[in-house]
Amino acid sequence: MKTLIIYFSISGNTKWLAKQIAAHLPGETDLHRIELSSNKIWKGAVGMFLYGMKTIFGMKMDIQADHINWSEYNHVIIGGPVWVASVPPPLRAFVKKHKEQIAQKTVSVFCTCGGNRGSFFKQLRDVLGVKFWPDPLTLVEPFQHPKDTNDLRVKAFTQEINAAKQQRA
Ligand SMILES: Cc1cc2nc3c(=O)[nH]c(=O)nc-3n(C[C@H](O)[C@H](O)[C@H](O)COP(=O)(O)O)c2cc1C
Repeated sequence: MKTLIIYFSISGNTKWLAKQIAAHLPGETDLHRIELSSNKIWKGAVGMFLYGMKTIFGMKMDIQADHINWSEYNHVIIGGPVWVASVPPPLRAFVKKHKEQIAQKTVSVFCTCGGNRGSFFKQLRDVLGVKFWPDPLTLVEPFQHPKDTNDLRVKAFTQEINAAKQQRA
């Protein structure tokens, strides 16, 4: 059985982290990026304002259809950026849509943020209703502001996953 890493990312930090996690996991790992239906992606201050408003007012942001074959995976790792201390609407839409399939797997989570992850993990747990394992990983904008300690933290997160997988094998 394989691992599926699902992530949403606008400015590349969560994408970077998703790829780092994949690189540290042995065995087959697939990556799925949640894509917006809209062609227009807003970055910088405009994106912060527009997406922030959508998050605060619980507005929908449509995402592209996916064709994930859930039966191939026994472990799902979900990550996204923190928007206004919350799960961004596109990631929320994805996990709500696939809640039943995800809840049948071992679920791990991670996020990237500017320094305050707020209730990101609590909100994800409330939607999915499952325990996360190992402890969630949070990095501060690892692509835009690289730090030496980020690699160690990714290794610690993935080592816990690998050790438990070996025990089960
Ligand atoms: C709309 C919006 C709201 C944000 N709100 C927060 C926040 O509440 N706390 C925080 O620490 N960072 C916040 N950030 C910063 C992002 O979480 C951070 O830059 C993240 O790494 C972006 O991920 P990405 O590059 O994968 O899109 C916000 C960014 C955006 C665009």
